Amino acid sequence: MRDALGAVQSVLVLGGGSEIALTTVRKLVGDRCRTVVLAARRPDELAGTVAELQAAGATDVDTVAFDALDPASHEKIIDGIFEAHGDIDVVLLAFGVLGDQKEFDADPASAAQAIAANFGGAVSAGLAVAHNLRKQGHGTLVVLSSVAGERVRKDNFVYGSSKAGLDGFAQGLGDSLVGSGARVMVVRPGFVHTKMTEGMDAAPFSTTPDVVADAIVEGLHKRRDVVWAPSQLRYVFSALRHLPRPVWRKVSDR
Ligand SMILES: NC(=O)c1ccc[n+]([C@@H]2O[C@H](COP(=O)([O-])OP(=O)(O)OC[C@H]3O[C@@H](n4cnc5c(N)ncnc54)[C@H](OP(=O)(O)O)[C@@H]3O)[C@@H](O)[C@H]2O)c1
Repeated sequence: MRDALGAVQSVLVLGGGSEIALTTVRKLVGDRCRTVVLAARRPDELAGTVAELQAAGATDVDTVAFDALDPASHEKIIDGIFEAHGDIDVVLLAFGVLGDQKEFDADPASAAQAIAANFGGAVSAGLAVAHNLRKQGHGTLVVLSSVAGERVRKDNFVYGSSKAGLDGFAQGLGDSLVGSGARVMVVRPGFVHTKMTEGMDAAPFSTTPDVVADAIVEGLHKRRDVVWAPSQLRYVFSALRHLPRPVWRKVSDR
Protein backbone atom coordinates (compact mmCIF):
# COMPACT_ATOMS: atom_id res chain seq x y z
CA MET A 1 0.00 0.00 0.00
CA ARG A 2 1.35 3.49 -0.82
CA ASP A 3 2.51 5.34 2.31
CA ALA A 4 0.68 8.29 3.90
CA LEU A 5 2.42 10.69 1.48
CA GLY A 6 1.43 8.63 -1.55
CA ALA A 7 4.90 7.15 -2.17
CA VAL A 8 4.99 3.78 -3.91
CA GLN A 9 6.28 1.12 -1.50
CA SER A 10 6.36 -1.95 -3.75
CA VAL A 11 6.91 -2.50 -7.46
CA LEU A 12 6.93 -5.51 -9.77
CA VAL A 13 8.58 -5.30 -13.20
CA LEU A 14 7.57 -7.74 -15.92
CA GLY A 15 10.55 -7.55 -18.27
CA GLY A 16 12.90 -6.90 -15.37
CA GLY A 17 15.91 -5.96 -17.51
CA SER A 18 14.18 -3.11 -19.33
CA GLU A 19 16.23 0.07 -19.19
CA ILE A 20 13.13 2.28 -19.03
CA ALA A 21 11.65 0.17 -16.22
CA LEU A 22 14.88 -0.02 -14.21
CA THR A 23 15.41 3.73 -14.47
CA THR A 24 11.86 4.14 -13.12
CA VAL A 25 12.50 1.65 -10.32
CA ARG A 26 15.67 3.52 -9.25
CA LYS A 27 13.61 6.71 -8.93
CA LEU A 28 10.89 4.92 -6.94
CA VAL A 29 13.49 3.40 -4.59
CA GLY A 30 14.97 6.90 -4.16
CA ASP A 31 11.48 7.94 -3.07
CA ARG A 32 11.11 5.24 -0.36
CA CYS A 33 9.96 2.20 -2.40
CA ARG A 34 11.23 -0.81 -0.40
CA THR A 35 10.00 -3.94 -2.24
CA VAL A 36 11.18 -4.63 -5.80
CA VAL A 37 10.46 -7.79 -7.80
CA LEU A 38 12.15 -8.15 -11.18
CA ALA A 39 10.57 -10.81 -13.41
CA ALA A 40 12.83 -11.56 -16.36
CA ARG A 41 13.84 -14.21 -18.87
CA ARG A 42 17.28 -14.58 -17.30
CA PRO A 43 16.93 -13.51 -13.65
CA ASP A 44 20.53 -14.59 -12.84
CA GLU A 45 21.83 -11.74 -14.99
CA LEU A 46 20.19 -9.23 -12.65
CA ALA A 47 22.41 -9.95 -9.60
CA GLY A 48 24.27 -6.64 -10.01
CA THR A 49 21.00 -4.71 -10.29
CA VAL A 50 19.67 -6.41 -7.16
CA ALA A 51 22.78 -5.39 -5.19
CA GLU A 52 22.54 -1.84 -6.51
CA LEU A 53 18.86 -1.51 -5.48
CA GLN A 54 19.63 -2.91 -2.03
CA ALA A 55 22.46 -0.41 -1.62
CA ALA A 56 20.01 2.34 -2.61
CA GLY A 57 17.67 1.36 0.24
CA ALA A 58 15.32 -1.34 -1.08
CA THR A 59 14.96 -3.96 1.66
CA ASP A 60 13.10 -6.73 -0.21
CA VAL A 61 14.51 -7.30 -3.71
CA ASP A 62 13.68 -10.49 -5.57
CA THR A 63 14.08 -11.89 -9.06
CA VAL A 64 11.72 -14.37 -10.71
CA ALA A 65 11.91 -16.27 -14.01
CA PHE A 66 9.33 -14.95 -16.47
CA ASP A 67 8.99 -15.47 -20.22
CA ALA A 68 6.40 -13.42 -22.11
CA LEU A 69 6.31 -16.21 -24.71
CA ASP A 70 4.99 -18.73 -22.18
CA PRO A 71 1.49 -17.38 -21.45
CA ALA A 72 0.37 -20.59 -19.75
CA SER A 73 2.84 -19.88 -16.92
CA HIS A 74 1.84 -16.26 -16.27
CA GLU A 75 -1.05 -16.69 -13.86
CA LYS A 76 0.91 -19.02 -11.56
CA ILE A 77 4.05 -16.84 -11.58
CA ILE A 78 2.15 -13.59 -10.94
CA ASP A 79 -0.13 -15.07 -8.27
CA GLY A 80 3.00 -16.47 -6.59
CA ILE A 81 4.67 -13.03 -6.54
CA PHE A 82 1.64 -11.40 -4.92
CA GLU A 83 1.44 -14.24 -2.37
CA ALA A 84 5.14 -14.02 -1.51
CA HIS A 85 5.44 -10.23 -1.27
CA GLY A 86 1.99 -9.10 -0.17
CA ASP A 87 0.45 -6.01 -1.70
CA ILE A 88 2.12 -4.61 -4.82
CA ASP A 89 1.48 -0.90 -5.48
CA VAL A 90 2.80 -0.67 -9.03
CA VAL A 91 3.38 -3.23 -11.78
CA LEU A 92 5.45 -2.12 -14.78
CA LEU A 93 4.64 -4.19 -17.86
CA ALA A 94 7.85 -3.43 -19.73
CA PHE A 95 8.85 -6.44 -21.81
CA GLY A 96 8.95 -6.08 -25.56
CA VAL A 97 10.92 -6.78 -28.72
CA LEU A 98 11.38 -4.30 -31.55
CA GLY A 99 12.64 -6.63 -34.28
CA ASP A 100 13.41 -5.64 -37.82
CA GLN A 101 10.68 -5.24 -40.42
CA LYS A 102 12.84 -6.66 -43.26
CA GLU A 103 13.61 -9.75 -41.18
CA PHE A 104 9.92 -10.12 -40.33
CA ASP A 105 9.09 -9.88 -44.04
CA ALA A 106 11.56 -12.69 -44.77
CA ASP A 107 10.48 -14.85 -41.82
CA PRO A 108 6.75 -14.51 -41.07
CA ALA A 109 6.95 -16.93 -38.13
CA SER A 110 9.37 -14.58 -36.34
CA ALA A 111 6.90 -11.74 -36.86
CA ALA A 112 4.14 -13.79 -35.24
CA GLN A 113 6.49 -14.51 -32.35
CA ALA A 114 7.13 -10.79 -31.79
CA ILE A 115 3.37 -10.21 -31.72
CA ALA A 116 3.02 -13.14 -29.30
CA ALA A 117 5.53 -11.55 -26.90
CA ASN A 118 4.50 -7.88 -27.18
CA PHE A 119 0.74 -8.38 -27.34
CA GLY A 120 -0.21 -11.96 -26.46
CA GLY A 121 2.15 -12.12 -23.48
CA ALA A 122 0.90 -8.75 -22.27
CA VAL A 123 -2.70 -9.95 -22.40
CA SER A 124 -2.12 -13.06 -20.27
CA ALA A 125 0.22 -11.26 -17.85
CA GLY A 126 -1.95 -8.12 -17.73
CA LEU A 127 -5.10 -10.08 -16.90
CA ALA A 128 -3.29 -12.01 -14.16
CA VAL A 129 -1.99 -8.74 -12.68
CA ALA A 130 -5.46 -7.16 -12.87
CA HIS A 131 -6.95 -10.12 -11.00
CA ASN A 132 -4.49 -9.57 -8.12
CA LEU A 133 -4.85 -5.78 -8.07
CA ARG A 134 -8.64 -6.13 -8.00
CA LYS A 135 -8.35 -8.56 -5.11
CA GLN A 136 -6.13 -6.23 -3.05
CA GLY A 137 -8.35 -3.24 -3.97
CA HIS A 138 -5.58 -0.88 -5.07
CA GLY A 139 -2.53 -0.62 -7.31
CA THR A 140 -1.55 0.58 -10.79
CA LEU A 141 -0.56 -1.47 -13.81
CA VAL A 142 1.74 0.68 -15.93
CA VAL A 143 1.78 -0.53 -19.54
CA LEU A 144 4.71 0.46 -21.78
CA SER A 145 2.93 1.07 -25.06
CA SER A 146 4.48 3.28 -27.79
CA VAL A 147 3.69 6.06 -30.22
CA ALA A 148 4.47 3.34 -32.80
CA GLY A 149 0.97 2.01 -32.10
CA GLU A 150 -0.69 5.41 -32.29
CA ARG A 151 -0.21 5.50 -36.04
CA VAL A 152 1.53 2.47 -37.50
CA ARG A 153 4.42 3.11 -39.90
CA LYS A 154 5.27 0.92 -42.88
CA ASP A 155 8.90 0.70 -41.67
CA ASN A 156 7.97 -1.19 -38.49
CA PHE A 157 4.38 -2.21 -38.91
CA VAL A 158 4.72 -5.56 -37.12
CA TYR A 159 6.06 -3.86 -33.97
CA GLY A 160 3.61 -0.97 -34.43
CA SER A 161 0.63 -3.26 -34.74
CA SER A 162 1.69 -5.18 -31.62
CA LYS A 163 1.73 -1.87 -29.73
CA ALA A 164 -1.62 -0.79 -31.22
CA GLY A 165 -3.13 -4.03 -29.93
CA LEU A 166 -1.41 -3.63 -26.56
CA ASP A 167 -2.58 -0.04 -26.20
CA GLY A 168 -6.19 -0.96 -26.93
CA PHE A 169 -6.02 -3.86 -24.49
CA ALA A 170 -4.56 -1.65 -21.75
CA GLN A 171 -7.19 1.05 -22.22
CA GLY A 172 -10.01 -1.50 -22.10
CA LEU A 173 -8.53 -3.20 -19.05
CA GLY A 174 -8.25 0.18 -17.31
CA ASP A 175 -11.91 0.90 -18.04
CA SER A 176 -12.90 -2.52 -16.71
CA LEU A 177 -11.11 -1.78 -13.41
CA VAL A 178 -12.93 1.47 -12.67
CA GLY A 179 -14.51 1.21 -9.22
CA SER A 180 -12.19 -1.60 -8.08
CA GLY A 181 -9.50 0.66 -6.63
CA ALA A 182 -7.02 -0.71 -9.19
CA ARG A 183 -5.94 1.28 -12.24
CA VAL A 184 -4.06 1.10 -15.54
CA MET A 185 -1.73 3.83 -16.78
CA VAL A 186 -0.75 3.65 -20.45
CA VAL A 187 2.68 5.09 -21.31
CA ARG A 188 3.42 6.14 -24.90
CA PRO A 189 7.10 6.97 -25.33
CA GLY A 190 8.59 8.09 -28.63
CA PHE A 191 12.08 6.96 -29.65
CA VAL A 192 14.07 6.27 -26.46
CA HIS A 193 17.83 5.69 -26.39
CA THR A 194 18.03 2.22 -24.80
CA LYS A 195 19.54 -1.13 -25.80
CA MET A 196 16.35 -1.71 -27.82
CA THR A 197 17.20 1.15 -30.21
CA GLU A 198 21.00 0.91 -30.07
CA GLY A 199 22.63 1.71 -33.44
CA MET A 200 19.43 3.11 -34.96
CA ASP A 201 19.02 6.64 -36.30
CA ALA A 202 17.11 8.64 -33.70
CA ALA A 203 13.59 9.78 -34.63
CA PRO A 204 12.40 13.36 -34.05
CA PHE A 205 11.66 14.07 -30.36
CA SER A 206 13.99 11.23 -29.33
CA THR A 207 14.49 11.03 -25.59
CA THR A 208 16.18 9.16 -22.74
CA PRO A 209 15.03 6.54 -20.19
CA ASP A 210 15.43 9.25 -17.55
CA VAL A 211 12.82 11.50 -19.18
CA VAL A 212 10.40 8.58 -19.61
CA ALA A 213 10.94 7.46 -15.99
CA ASP A 214 10.25 10.99 -14.73
CA ALA A 215 7.04 11.05 -16.77
CA ILE A 216 5.99 7.68 -15.31
CA VAL A 217 6.70 8.78 -11.73
CA GLU A 218 4.80 12.05 -12.26
CA GLY A 219 1.93 10.15 -13.90
CA LEU A 220 1.72 7.83 -10.89
CA HIS A 221 1.58 10.80 -8.49
CA LYS A 222 -1.09 12.53 -10.58
CA ARG A 223 -3.03 9.32 -11.24
CA ARG A 224 -2.92 9.82 -15.00
CA ASP A 225 -4.60 7.38 -17.41
CA VAL A 226 -2.18 8.12 -20.24
CA VAL A 227 1.37 9.49 -20.27
CA TRP A 228 3.29 10.64 -23.35
CA ALA A 229 7.08 10.94 -23.21
CA PRO A 230 8.18 13.50 -24.13
CA SER A 231 4.85 15.22 -23.46
CA GLN A 232 4.82 17.17 -26.76
CA LEU A 233 4.20 13.89 -28.61
CA ARG A 234 0.59 14.01 -27.47
CA TYR A 235 0.02 17.07 -29.66
CA VAL A 236 2.26 15.86 -32.48
CA PHE A 237 0.34 12.60 -32.76
CA SER A 238 -3.08 14.18 -32.47
CA ALA A 239 -2.15 15.90 -35.76
CA LEU A 240 -0.29 12.95 -37.34
CA ARG A 241 -3.10 10.47 -36.76
CA HIS A 242 -5.44 12.58 -38.96
CA LEU A 243 -3.08 13.03 -41.90
CA PRO A 244 -4.38 11.55 -45.17
CA ARG A 245 -2.70 8.18 -45.72
CA PRO A 246 -0.58 9.23 -48.78
CA VAL A 247 0.79 12.18 -46.76
CA TRP A 248 1.44 9.94 -43.74
CA ARG A 249 3.35 7.49 -45.98
CA LYS A 250 5.65 10.32 -47.03
CA VAL A 251 6.23 11.96 -43.64
CA SER A 252 6.74 8.63 -41.86
CA ASP A 253 9.29 7.38 -44.42
CA ARG A 254 12.71 7.29 -42.77
N1 LIG B 1 13.23 2.18 -26.51
C1 LIG B 1 12.24 2.77 -27.19
O1 LIG B 1 12.46 3.57 -28.12
C2 LIG B 1 10.81 2.50 -26.81
C3 LIG B 1 9.83 3.39 -27.29
C4 LIG B 1 8.50 3.14 -26.98
C5 LIG B 1 8.16 2.05 -26.22
N2 LIG B 1 9.12 1.21 -25.78
C6 LIG B 1 8.69 0.04 -25.02
O2 LIG B 1 9.15 0.16 -23.69
C7 LIG B 1 9.35 -1.15 -23.15
C8 LIG B 1 10.74 -1.21 -22.54
O3 LIG B 1 11.70 -1.04 -23.57
P1 LIG B 1 13.20 -0.54 -23.29
O4 LIG B 1 13.45 0.62 -24.20
O5 LIG B 1 13.42 -0.42 -21.85
O6 LIG B 1 14.02 -1.72 -23.95
P2 LIG B 1 14.88 -2.88 -23.31
O7 LIG B 1 15.86 -2.34 -22.34
O8 LIG B 1 15.39 -3.66 -24.47
O9 LIG B 1 13.80 -3.74 -22.49
C9 LIG B 1 12.97 -4.68 -23.08
C10 LIG B 1 12.92 -5.85 -22.13
O10 LIG B 1 11.99 -6.80 -22.62
C11 LIG B 1 12.49 -8.07 -22.27
N3 LIG B 1 11.91 -9.14 -23.05
C12 LIG B 1 11.91 -9.30 -24.39
N4 LIG B 1 11.31 -10.45 -24.73
C13 LIG B 1 10.92 -11.03 -23.56
C14 LIG B 1 10.26 -12.24 -23.24
N5 LIG B 1 9.89 -13.12 -24.19
N6 LIG B 1 10.01 -12.50 -21.94
C15 LIG B 1 10.40 -11.65 -20.97
N7 LIG B 1 11.06 -10.49 -21.20
C16 LIG B 1 11.30 -10.20 -22.49
C17 LIG B 1 13.97 -7.96 -22.53
O11 LIG B 1 14.62 -8.99 -21.84
P3 LIG B 1 16.15 -9.39 -22.08
O12 LIG B 1 16.90 -8.41 -21.20
O13 LIG B 1 16.19 -10.79 -21.62
O14 LIG B 1 16.44 -9.21 -23.52
C18 LIG B 1 14.27 -6.56 -22.00
O15 LIG B 1 14.66 -6.60 -20.64
C19 LIG B 1 9.15 -2.14 -24.29
O16 LIG B 1 7.83 -2.65 -24.24
C20 LIG B 1 9.27 -1.25 -25.53
O17 LIG B 1 8.55 -1.79 -26.62
C21 LIG B 1 10.44 1.41 -26.04
